[in-house]
Amino acid sequence: MKKVYKANILYTKERTGFEVVENGYIAVENGRVAGVASNLKALGCEDAEVTDFGNCLLIPAMNDMHVHAPQVHNQGVAMDLELLPWLQNYTFPEESKYASVEYAERMYRRFLHTQWLFGTMRSVVFGTIHTESTRRLMKLYQEAGMGALVGKVAMNRNCPPELCEDVEASVAGTEQLIQEFGGADGLVRPIITPRFVPSCTPELLKACGELANKYHLPVQSHLSENISEIAWVAELEPESRSYGDAYNRYGLFGQTPTIMAHCVWTKGEELELMKRNGVMVAHCPTSNFNLSSGLAPVRTMLDESLPIGLGSDISGGHDLNMFRMLVYAIQVSKMHYMHDHSKKFLSLSEIFWIATKSAGSFFGKVGSFEPGYEFDALVIDDDVLHPSEYSLLHRLERFIYLGDDRQIIHRFCRGQEIAEPEND
Ligand code: GUN
Ligand code: FE
Repeated sequence: MKKVYKANILYTKERTGFEVVENGYIAVENGRVAGVASNLKALGCEDAEVTDFGNCLLIPAMNDMHVHAPQVHNQGVAMDLELLPWLQNYTFPEESKYASVEYAERMYRRFLHTQWLFGTMRSVVFGTIHTESTRRLMKLYQEAGMGALVGKVAMNRNCPPELCEDVEASVAGTEQLIQEFGGADGLVRPIITPRFVPSCTPELLKACGELANKYHLPVQSHLSENISEIAWVAELEPESRSYGDAYNRYGLFGQTPTIMAHCVWTKGEELELMKRNGVMVAHCPTSNFNLSSGLAPVRTMLDESLPIGLGSDISGGHDLNMFRMLVYAIQVSKMHYMHDHSKKFLSLSEIFWIATKSAGSFFGKVGSFEPGYEFDALVIDDDVLHPSEYSLLHRLERFIYLGDDRQIIHRFCRGQEIAEPEND
Protein backbone atom coordinates (compact mmCIF):
# COMPACT_ATOMS: atom_id res chain seq x y z
CA MET A 1 0.00 0.00 0.00
CA LYS A 2 1.39 3.36 -1.02
CA LYS A 3 1.18 6.23 1.44
CA VAL A 4 1.64 9.83 0.41
CA TYR A 5 2.64 12.69 2.73
CA LYS A 6 2.59 16.39 1.93
CA ALA A 7 4.91 18.94 3.57
CA ASN A 8 7.94 21.13 2.90
CA ILE A 9 10.51 18.46 2.11
CA LEU A 10 14.25 18.96 2.72
CA TYR A 11 17.10 16.43 2.47
CA THR A 12 20.68 16.13 1.23
CA LYS A 13 21.39 13.88 -1.74
CA GLU A 14 24.86 15.41 -1.98
CA ARG A 15 26.85 17.16 0.72
CA THR A 16 27.09 20.31 -1.41
CA GLY A 17 23.46 21.35 -1.02
CA PHE A 18 19.89 20.61 0.03
CA GLU A 19 17.08 19.24 -2.08
CA VAL A 20 14.12 21.47 -1.23
CA VAL A 21 10.56 20.77 -2.38
CA GLU A 22 8.15 23.39 -1.11
CA ASN A 23 4.66 21.97 -0.54
CA GLY A 24 5.97 18.70 -1.90
CA TYR A 25 4.70 15.12 -1.87
CA ILE A 26 6.56 11.99 -0.84
CA ALA A 27 5.30 8.51 -1.66
CA VAL A 28 6.21 5.60 0.63
CA GLU A 29 5.71 1.94 -0.23
CA ASN A 30 6.74 -1.06 1.89
CA GLY A 31 8.64 1.25 4.21
CA ARG A 32 10.71 2.79 1.43
CA VAL A 33 10.55 6.07 -0.45
CA ALA A 34 8.94 5.58 -3.87
CA GLY A 35 9.42 9.20 -4.98
CA VAL A 36 9.37 12.90 -4.14
CA ALA A 37 7.66 15.47 -6.37
CA SER A 38 5.99 18.84 -6.30
CA ASN A 39 2.64 17.47 -7.45
CA LEU A 40 0.72 14.21 -7.31
CA LYS A 41 0.73 13.71 -11.08
CA ALA A 42 4.52 13.79 -11.27
CA LEU A 43 4.56 11.28 -8.43
CA GLY A 44 2.20 8.97 -10.33
CA CYS A 45 -0.17 8.97 -7.35
CA GLU A 46 -3.15 11.02 -8.54
CA ASP A 47 -5.71 8.87 -6.71
CA ALA A 48 -3.73 8.48 -3.50
CA GLU A 49 -5.06 9.58 -0.16
CA VAL A 50 -2.71 12.25 1.13
CA THR A 51 -1.70 12.93 4.74
CA ASP A 52 -1.19 16.68 4.75
CA PHE A 53 1.33 18.10 7.24
CA GLY A 54 0.52 21.67 6.18
CA ASN A 55 3.36 24.13 6.59
CA CYS A 56 5.59 21.69 8.52
CA LEU A 57 9.08 20.60 7.48
CA LEU A 58 9.66 16.95 6.59
CA ILE A 59 13.29 15.84 6.94
CA PRO A 60 15.24 12.59 7.37
CA ALA A 61 15.42 11.35 10.98
CA MET A 62 18.59 11.51 13.07
CA ASN A 63 21.19 8.75 13.47
CA ASP A 64 23.31 8.57 16.65
CA MET A 65 26.39 6.66 15.55
CA HIS A 66 28.03 6.28 18.97
CA VAL A 67 26.27 6.23 22.30
CA HIS A 68 26.59 4.39 25.63
CA ALA A 69 23.04 3.63 26.81
CA PRO A 70 24.21 2.51 30.29
CA GLN A 71 25.83 5.89 30.91
CA VAL A 72 22.48 7.71 30.82
CA HIS A 73 22.42 8.21 34.60
CA ASN A 74 25.80 9.99 34.38
CA GLN A 75 24.54 12.32 31.65
CA GLY A 76 25.46 15.91 32.51
CA VAL A 77 27.66 15.12 35.52
CA ALA A 78 31.31 14.24 36.20
CA MET A 79 33.01 16.54 33.72
CA ASP A 80 36.15 17.10 35.80
CA LEU A 81 38.46 14.35 34.53
CA GLU A 82 40.09 13.22 31.31
CA LEU A 83 39.21 9.93 29.66
CA LEU A 84 41.20 7.30 31.58
CA PRO A 85 40.51 8.46 35.17
CA TRP A 86 36.95 9.37 34.10
CA LEU A 87 36.37 5.75 33.07
CA GLN A 88 37.75 4.35 36.32
CA ASN A 89 36.07 6.83 38.67
CA TYR A 90 32.67 7.44 37.12
CA THR A 91 31.89 5.22 34.17
CA PHE A 92 32.88 1.74 35.33
CA PRO A 93 31.12 2.09 38.72
CA GLU A 94 27.91 3.14 36.91
CA GLU A 95 28.10 0.35 34.33
CA SER A 96 28.62 -2.20 37.13
CA LYS A 97 25.06 -1.48 38.27
CA TYR A 98 23.75 -3.10 35.08
CA ALA A 99 24.28 -6.50 36.65
CA SER A 100 20.76 -5.74 37.88
CA VAL A 101 18.30 -6.27 35.03
CA GLU A 102 15.71 -4.28 36.96
CA TYR A 103 18.02 -1.23 37.15
CA ALA A 104 18.98 -1.69 33.50
CA GLU A 105 15.37 -1.83 32.37
CA ARG A 106 14.49 1.38 34.24
CA MET A 107 17.48 3.32 32.90
CA TYR A 108 17.18 1.93 29.37
CA ARG A 109 13.54 3.01 29.18
CA ARG A 110 14.59 6.52 30.18
CA PHE A 111 17.37 6.50 27.60
CA LEU A 112 15.18 5.24 24.74
CA HIS A 113 12.45 7.72 25.56
CA THR A 114 14.91 10.62 25.28
CA GLN A 115 16.19 9.34 21.95
CA TRP A 116 12.60 9.16 20.73
CA LEU A 117 11.91 12.72 21.92
CA PHE A 118 14.81 14.08 19.86
CA GLY A 119 13.92 12.12 16.73
CA THR A 120 16.85 9.70 16.75
CA MET A 121 15.48 6.71 14.89
CA ARG A 122 18.71 4.72 14.42
CA SER A 123 21.61 4.25 16.80
CA VAL A 124 24.86 2.40 17.19
CA VAL A 125 24.90 1.55 20.87
CA PHE A 126 27.22 0.22 23.55
CA GLY A 127 25.52 -1.84 26.28
CA THR A 128 27.55 -3.37 29.11
CA ILE A 129 29.14 -6.80 29.58
CA HIS A 130 25.82 -8.03 31.02
CA THR A 131 24.05 -10.26 28.51
CA GLU A 132 20.56 -10.18 30.00
CA SER A 133 20.55 -6.40 30.48
CA THR A 134 21.79 -5.92 26.92
CA ARG A 135 19.05 -8.28 25.74
CA ARG A 136 16.48 -6.09 27.53
CA LEU A 137 17.84 -3.02 25.73
CA MET A 138 17.47 -4.77 22.38
CA LYS A 139 13.91 -5.83 23.24
CA LEU A 140 13.03 -2.24 24.16
CA TYR A 141 14.28 -1.03 20.76
CA GLN A 142 12.27 -3.78 19.06
CA GLU A 143 9.13 -2.91 21.00
CA ALA A 144 9.56 0.78 20.14
CA GLY A 145 10.16 0.04 16.43
CA MET A 146 13.38 2.08 16.44
CA GLY A 147 16.51 0.83 14.66
CA ALA A 148 19.70 -0.02 16.56
CA LEU A 149 22.92 -1.95 16.36
CA VAL A 150 23.53 -2.92 19.97
CA GLY A 151 26.72 -4.34 21.42
CA LYS A 152 27.26 -6.42 24.50
CA VAL A 153 30.57 -4.92 25.56
CA ALA A 154 33.66 -7.17 25.55
CA MET A 155 36.24 -6.26 28.23
CA ASN A 156 38.57 -8.35 30.39
CA ARG A 157 41.45 -6.22 31.64
CA ASN A 158 42.20 -2.89 33.34
CA CYS A 159 38.72 -2.66 34.79
CA PRO A 160 37.07 -3.55 38.12
CA PRO A 161 36.61 -7.31 38.65
CA GLU A 162 32.83 -7.07 38.30
CA LEU A 163 33.23 -5.76 34.74
CA CYS A 164 35.85 -8.35 33.76
CA GLU A 165 34.47 -11.30 31.85
CA ASP A 166 36.61 -14.20 30.64
CA VAL A 167 36.86 -14.79 26.91
CA GLU A 168 34.61 -17.87 26.83
CA ALA A 169 31.83 -16.18 28.79
CA SER A 170 32.05 -13.07 26.62
CA VAL A 171 31.80 -15.09 23.41
CA ALA A 172 28.97 -17.25 24.77
CA GLY A 173 26.93 -14.20 25.82
CA THR A 174 27.43 -12.49 22.48
CA GLU A 175 26.47 -15.68 20.61
CA GLN A 176 23.30 -15.91 22.68
CA LEU A 177 22.28 -12.44 21.46
CA ILE A 178 23.30 -13.31 17.89
CA GLN A 179 20.98 -16.35 17.97
CA GLU A 180 18.08 -14.17 19.09
CA PHE A 181 18.68 -10.96 17.10
CA GLY A 182 21.04 -11.99 14.28
CA GLY A 183 18.54 -11.85 11.37
CA ALA A 184 20.13 -9.87 8.54
CA ASP A 185 17.11 -7.64 7.89
CA GLY A 186 16.21 -6.90 11.50
CA LEU A 187 15.90 -3.31 12.69
CA VAL A 188 17.67 -4.32 15.89
CA ARG A 189 20.86 -6.32 15.45
CA PRO A 190 23.99 -7.17 17.40
CA ILE A 191 27.30 -5.42 16.74
CA ILE A 192 30.64 -6.79 17.92
CA THR A 193 31.89 -4.40 20.63
CA PRO A 194 35.38 -4.67 22.07
CA ARG A 195 35.38 -1.64 24.42
CA PHE A 196 38.84 -0.43 23.34
CA VAL A 197 42.31 -1.95 23.21
CA PRO A 198 43.25 -1.18 26.85
CA SER A 199 40.14 -3.09 28.04
CA CYS A 200 40.70 -6.23 25.93
CA THR A 201 43.50 -8.80 25.99
CA PRO A 202 44.84 -10.01 22.63
CA GLU A 203 42.84 -13.24 23.16
CA LEU A 204 39.60 -11.31 23.58
CA LEU A 205 40.31 -9.07 20.57
CA LYS A 206 41.03 -12.18 18.51
CA ALA A 207 37.77 -13.79 19.66
CA CYS A 208 35.83 -10.62 18.76
CA GLY A 209 37.35 -10.60 15.27
CA GLU A 210 36.42 -14.25 14.81
CA LEU A 211 32.82 -13.59 15.88
CA ALA A 212 32.48 -10.66 13.45
CA ASN A 213 33.84 -12.77 10.63
CA LYS A 214 31.84 -15.91 11.47
CA TYR A 215 28.48 -14.13 11.69
CA HIS A 216 29.20 -11.29 9.22
CA LEU A 217 28.47 -8.74 11.90
CA PRO A 218 29.58 -5.10 12.09
CA VAL A 219 32.14 -3.87 14.63
CA GLN A 220 32.30 -0.77 16.84
CA SER A 221 34.95 0.53 19.20
CA HIS A 222 36.95 3.61 20.23
CA LEU A 223 40.05 4.88 18.41
CA SER A 224 42.68 7.57 19.05
CA GLU A 225 40.50 9.63 21.37
CA ASN A 226 43.00 10.86 23.96
CA ILE A 227 46.80 11.29 24.05
CA SER A 228 47.35 9.20 27.23
CA GLU A 229 45.13 6.45 25.83
CA ILE A 230 47.14 6.32 22.59
CA ALA A 231 50.44 6.12 24.51
CA TRP A 232 49.01 3.28 26.61
CA VAL A 233 47.92 1.34 23.52
CA ALA A 234 51.42 1.72 22.07
CA GLU A 235 52.79 0.08 25.26
CA LEU A 236 50.17 -2.68 25.27
CA GLU A 237 50.47 -3.46 21.56
CA PRO A 238 54.14 -2.92 20.69
CA GLU A 239 53.86 -4.97 17.50
CA SER A 240 51.11 -2.82 16.02
CA ARG A 241 52.12 0.00 13.69
CA SER A 242 49.32 2.23 15.02
CA TYR A 243 46.30 2.05 17.34
CA GLY A 244 44.11 1.28 14.32
CA ASP A 245 46.52 -1.41 13.20
CA ALA A 246 45.99 -3.18 16.54
CA TYR A 247 42.30 -3.63 15.66
CA ASN A 248 43.22 -4.49 12.09
CA ARG A 249 45.49 -7.33 13.17
CA TYR A 250 42.54 -8.96 14.95
CA GLY A 251 40.08 -8.55 12.05
CA LEU A 252 38.30 -5.61 13.69
CA PHE A 253 39.05 -2.80 11.26
CA GLY A 254 36.89 -2.96 8.16
CA GLN A 255 36.98 -6.71 7.55
CA THR A 256 33.25 -6.31 8.27
CA PRO A 257 31.54 -2.88 8.38
CA THR A 258 33.31 -1.00 11.16
CA ILE A 259 32.70 2.26 13.00
CA MET A 260 35.27 3.83 15.30
CA ALA A 261 34.39 6.64 17.70
CA HIS A 262 36.49 9.83 17.90
CA CYS A 263 39.66 9.47 15.77
CA VAL A 264 40.66 12.86 17.16
CA TRP A 265 44.37 12.15 16.69
CA THR A 266 44.21 9.82 13.68
CA LYS A 267 46.76 10.64 11.00
CA GLY A 268 49.44 9.10 8.78
CA GLU A 269 49.37 5.33 8.47
CA GLU A 270 46.29 5.00 10.66
CA LEU A 271 44.35 7.37 8.41
CA GLU A 272 45.53 5.54 5.30
CA LEU A 273 44.45 2.21 6.79
CA MET A 274 41.01 3.59 7.66
CA LYS A 275 40.60 4.87 4.11
CA ARG A 276 41.76 1.62 2.58
CA ASN A 277 39.47 -0.46 4.79
CA GLY A 278 36.44 1.89 4.58
CA VAL A 279 36.22 2.33 8.37
CA MET A 280 33.59 4.91 9.39
CA VAL A 281 34.35 7.63 11.94
CA ALA A 282 31.75 8.50 14.60
CA HIS A 283 32.59 12.14 15.35
CA CYS A 284 31.51 13.04 18.89
CA PRO A 285 32.20 16.75 19.40
CA THR A 286 30.60 17.22 22.85
CA SER A 287 32.47 14.26 24.29
CA ASN A 288 35.74 15.57 22.87
CA PHE A 289 35.11 18.92 24.61
CA ASN A 290 33.92 17.52 27.93
CA LEU A 291 36.78 15.04 28.31
CA SER A 292 39.30 17.57 26.96
CA SER A 293 40.29 15.02 24.34
CA GLY A 294 40.90 17.38 21.41
CA LEU A 295 39.26 18.71 18.26
CA ALA A 296 38.65 16.04 15.63
CA PRO A 297 39.77 17.20 12.15
CA VAL A 298 36.45 16.75 10.39
CA ARG A 299 37.36 18.79 7.28
CA THR A 300 40.46 16.65 6.78
CA MET A 301 38.36 13.50 7.17
CA LEU A 302 35.92 14.76 4.55
CA ASP A 303 38.75 15.76 2.19
CA GLU A 304 40.16 12.26 2.59
CA SER A 305 36.71 10.79 1.79
CA LEU A 306 36.51 8.89 5.06
CA PRO A 307 32.93 7.76 5.79
CA ILE A 308 31.71 9.77 8.76
CA GLY A 309 28.70 10.14 11.05
CA LEU A 310 27.93 11.96 14.31
CA GLY A 311 27.65 10.47 17.79
CA SER A 312 26.43 11.83 21.12
CA ASP A 313 28.77 9.55 23.14
CA ILE A 314 26.68 9.92 26.29
CA SER A 315 27.98 10.40 28.99
CA GLY A 316 31.34 11.68 27.73
CA GLY A 317 28.96 13.78 25.68
CA HIS A 318 26.14 15.43 27.62
CA ASP A 319 23.49 15.95 24.93
CA LEU A 320 21.23 13.35 23.29
CA ASN A 321 19.79 15.95 20.91
CA MET A 322 21.50 15.09 17.64
CA PHE A 323 20.40 18.36 16.03
CA ARG A 324 22.54 20.18 18.53
CA MET A 325 25.40 17.82 17.61
CA LEU A 326 25.31 19.30 14.10
CA VAL A 327 25.85 22.72 15.63
CA TYR A 328 28.74 21.53 17.82
CA ALA A 329 30.39 19.83 14.83
CA ILE A 330 30.21 23.03 12.80
CA GLN A 331 31.69 24.93 15.74
CA VAL A 332 34.59 22.46 16.07
CA SER A 333 35.30 22.89 12.36
CA LYS A 334 35.32 26.68 12.88
CA MET A 335 37.92 26.33 15.63
CA HIS A 336 40.16 24.51 13.17
CA TYR A 337 39.48 27.20 10.58
CA MET A 338 40.45 29.97 13.00
CA HIS A 339 43.88 28.36 13.32
CA ASP A 340 44.25 27.35 9.70
CA HIS A 341 42.22 29.07 6.99
CA SER A 342 42.97 26.26 4.54
CA LYS A 343 40.61 24.05 6.62
CA LYS A 344 37.29 25.46 5.51
CA PHE A 345 34.61 25.11 8.16
CA LEU A 346 31.60 22.87 7.52
CA SER A 347 28.50 24.23 5.82
CA LEU A 348 25.01 23.37 7.02
CA SER A 349 24.40 21.05 4.07
CA GLU A 350 27.70 19.26 4.69
CA ILE A 351 26.93 18.55 8.33
CA PHE A 352 23.31 17.61 7.58
CA TRP A 353 24.54 15.18 4.93
CA ILE A 354 27.07 13.72 7.41
CA ALA A 355 24.37 13.23 10.06
CA THR A 356 21.79 11.73 7.71
CA LYS A 357 22.88 10.14 4.43
CA SER A 358 26.53 9.51 5.28
CA ALA A 359 25.82 8.12 8.76
CA GLY A 360 22.74 6.25 7.52
CA SER A 361 24.80 4.27 5.03
CA PHE A 362 26.00 2.16 7.98
CA PHE A 363 22.44 0.77 8.26
CA GLY A 364 21.86 0.28 4.52
CA LYS A 365 19.77 2.74 2.49
CA VAL A 366 18.94 5.15 5.29
CA GLY A 367 19.22 8.93 5.65
CA SER A 368 17.90 10.31 2.35
CA PHE A 369 14.58 10.60 0.53
CA GLU A 370 15.88 9.27 -2.77
CA PRO A 371 13.83 6.38 -4.19
CA GLY A 372 14.59 3.09 -2.44
CA TYR A 373 15.68 4.69 0.85
CA GLU A 374 13.94 3.50 3.99
CA PHE A 375 11.48 6.14 5.13
CA ASP A 376 13.04 7.41 8.38
CA ALA A 377 11.59 10.87 8.80
CA LEU A 378 10.59 13.66 11.17
CA VAL A 379 7.80 16.17 10.84
CA ILE A 380 8.81 19.53 12.34
CA ASP A 381 6.22 22.10 13.33
CA ASP A 382 8.35 25.22 13.80
CA ASP A 383 5.42 27.58 14.29
CA VAL A 384 6.99 29.04 17.46
CA LEU A 385 10.10 30.04 15.48
CA HIS A 386 8.28 32.59 13.27
CA PRO A 387 8.46 30.56 10.04
CA SER A 388 6.71 33.18 7.89
CA GLU A 389 9.76 35.45 8.21
CA TYR A 390 12.25 32.92 6.83
CA SER A 391 13.07 30.81 3.77
CA LEU A 392 12.67 27.03 4.11
CA LEU A 393 16.43 26.59 4.47
CA HIS A 394 16.63 29.21 7.18
CA ARG A 395 13.67 27.60 8.93
CA LEU A 396 15.58 24.32 9.01
CA GLU A 397 18.74 26.08 10.20
CA ARG A 398 16.83 27.82 13.00
CA PHE A 399 15.26 24.55 14.09
CA ILE A 400 18.71 22.91 14.17
CA TYR A 401 20.23 25.78 16.19
CA LEU A 402 17.26 26.75 18.40
CA GLY A 403 14.66 24.00 18.27
CA ASP A 404 14.01 21.06 20.56
CA ASP A 405 11.81 18.01 20.88
CA ARG A 406 8.63 20.08 21.24
CA GLN A 407 8.71 20.91 17.53
CA ILE A 408 9.00 17.26 16.43
CA ILE A 409 5.40 16.18 15.99
CA HIS A 410 5.75 12.90 14.05
CA ARG A 411 8.55 10.35 13.84
CA PHE A 412 8.87 7.54 11.28
CA CYS A 413 11.27 4.62 11.13
CA ARG A 414 11.22 2.25 8.15
CA GLY A 415 7.87 3.70 7.10
CA GLN A 416 6.14 3.15 10.45
CA GLU A 417 5.06 6.01 12.65
CA ILE A 418 6.83 5.54 16.01
CA ALA A 419 4.64 6.11 19.05
CA GLU A 420 6.01 7.44 22.31
CA PRO A 421 7.70 4.56 24.16
CA GLU A 422 6.69 3.85 27.74
CA ASN A 423 8.78 5.59 30.37
CA ASP A 424 8.70 5.53 34.18
N1 GUN B 1 36.88 4.57 25.65
C1 GUN B 1 36.61 3.40 26.24
N2 GUN B 1 35.42 3.41 26.86
C2 GUN B 1 34.91 4.64 26.64
C3 GUN B 1 33.69 5.27 27.03
O1 GUN B 1 32.82 4.71 27.70
N3 GUN B 1 33.53 6.56 26.62
C4 GUN B 1 34.46 7.21 25.87
N4 GUN B 1 34.23 8.45 25.50
N5 GUN B 1 35.61 6.64 25.50
C5 GUN B 1 35.83 5.37 25.89
FE1 FE C 1 32.29 6.18 23.66
